[in-house]
Amino acid sequence: MVKQTVLTGIKATGELHLGNYIGAIKPALQIAKHENVNPMYFIADYHALTKVHEQQTLQEYSYGIAAAWLALGLNPKRCLFYRQSDIPEIFELVWILSCFSSKGLMNRAHAYKAIKEQNIDQGYDKDDGVNMGIFSYPILMAADILLFQAKEVPVGRDQIQHIEIARDIATSFNSQYGNVFTLPQSRVSEQAVLPGLDGRKMSKSYGNTIPLFAQKDIMKKLINKIMTDSSKPNERKDPDQSTIFTIYKEFATNEQTEKMRQQFYDGISWGEAKQELFSIVSETLEEPRVIYNEFMTDKAQLDRILQEGAERARDIAVPFLKEVKKTIGL
Ligand code: TRP
Repeated sequence: MVKQTVLTGIKATGELHLGNYIGAIKPALQIAKHENVNPMYFIADYHALTKVHEQQTLQEYSYGIAAAWLALGLNPKRCLFYRQSDIPEIFELVWILSCFSSKGLMNRAHAYKAIKEQNIDQGYDKDDGVNMGIFSYPILMAADILLFQAKEVPVGRDQIQHIEIARDIATSFNSQYGNVFTLPQSRVSEQAVLPGLDGRKMSKSYGNTIPLFAQKDIMKKLINKIMTDSSKPNERKDPDQSTIFTIYKEFATNEQTEKMRQQFYDGISWGEAKQELFSIVSETLEEPRVIYNEFMTDKAQLDRILQEGAERARDIAVPFLKEVKKTIGL
C-alpha cells in the first residue's frame, strides 16, 4: 500500500484556544491516525518570523505549540513532527522555487494584498511595513510542501490560496523539467467553526477566545462571560442558536449532546448550562493540561522529540533535493 503524505504547518503565533483545538488540531490528529497516510506536521517557526521579532516570544510560541500538540495526542513515532527551522533543505528549495515564481503571483497573494490595500486606503506607501518574508511567504510554504511531495495539505479556508500558489509554482517547474514535484491539494476540514464569547467565530483577532490551557478559574470566568439571550430559567431554549451548546457538543459524546439538547428544551438556566460546559471542557483538557505543563518545564525533552523528527524528515529531504538540483543542472 502506497501511503499518502499528508503535511501541514502550524504557525507559531500566540496562545492556542478552544477554536484552534476543535477547528484544526483535533481534525489533524484524526487524519494522522488513518493507516493509509504518512503524516508530517511541523512548527512553521520561520513563517512566524515574518511577524514575531522578539527572541523569547518566538521561542515560547514554538515550544508552546509543540507541547500542546503532543499533549493533545500527537504521536511522534507515527507522525513526523519537526521544526521547519531544523530543515535547511527547505531554504535551498525556496531559492530554486523563487526562480519559478512570478512576482505577479506574489502580488496577488491575499496576505500581502490585504496589507497593501490597507496601506493605500490609509494614504501610506503601498509597501509600508511589508518585509520580504511577508511578500514571499507563499514560496516558503510551497517549499515546505513540495520538498516532501505531499499530496494533501489540511488547512483552514484562509490558506487555500497558498496551496493553489504551491501548485502553480510546481506546475511551472514541472512544465520545464518533467514531473518532478507532486501537485498538492488542500483539504479543508468539515469541522464547524467554533463560536467565541461574543458568538462570532472564536479568533484571536476578535479577542473573544477561551485559551486551551487557561487556569481553571480563568476558564470558568470566561465561560461565564459567554453571551446568551435574555431567556429565563425554565424557559425553553434553542440549543442550535446557543454558543454554549455549540461548544458543548464538540466536547461531548452523542449521548451527552442529546441529553443537553433535551435540557435546553426543558429550560435549563444559562448558569447551569455554563456550569455543564465548564465541567466537560475542563474534564477533557485535564490530562492534556498536565502533560502540557510537564513539557513546558522540560523543554529539552521537546527539543529531543523535534530534532528526532527533523532527522527523519531530512532522510527524505536530502536525497530529493539532490535530485532536484541535478535536474536543473546544479
Ligand atoms: N501558513 C500556514 C498558516 O498560517 C502555516 C503553514 C506554513 C503551512 N507552512 C505550511 C500550512 C505548509 C500547510 C503547509 O496557517
